[in-house]
Amino acid sequence: MSEQKQDRDAVIERVLEERKDQPGALLPILHGIQDVLGYVPREAIARIAQALNLSRAEIHGVVSFYHYFRTSSPGRHTVYLCRAESCQAMGANQLVAHAKANLGVDFHETTRDGAFTLEPIYCLGNCACSPAMMIDEQVYGRVTPERFEEVVRQVKEAA
Ligand code: FES
Repeated sequence: MSEQKQDRDAVIERVLEERKDQPGALLPILHGIQDVLGYVPREAIARIAQALNLSRAEIHGVVSFYHYFRTSSPGRHTVYLCRAESCQAMGANQLVAHAKANLGVDFHETTRDGAFTLEPIYCLGNCACSPAMMIDEQVYGRVTPERFEEVVRQVKEAA
């Protein structure tokens, strides 16, 4: 068994032990695992199902219902594009289309080089400077397609 897999299994077991007896334990468990690993690995689904006496399909249903949960390892940087009203009114749709084409991915996907994962988000509290995006906790406002490319290049170069 690889060291990485052992670490993952240890995280899953620890979170299950801490949270499985809480009322409505499923969501806290999924959050706990994703907070540490960055995603909910496939093997976690089977283990959670067993621990909570639920079917794998039920766990899958919850994981896919909440877009927040990821089932694959995220990229080194996560790009969040705001999809909420104010940003929509200021050209977020065009920005989203540009970002997808520029990175070559759809939402919830990671670029081939593992650098960026693209995610939607619903309001970054930066509505006065719409359209907004966030990369690695840093919020950017009035993001044009050109500015998007520039920021992505800077983040990549700084890594
Ligand atoms: S609507 Fe996009 S930051 Fe508020």
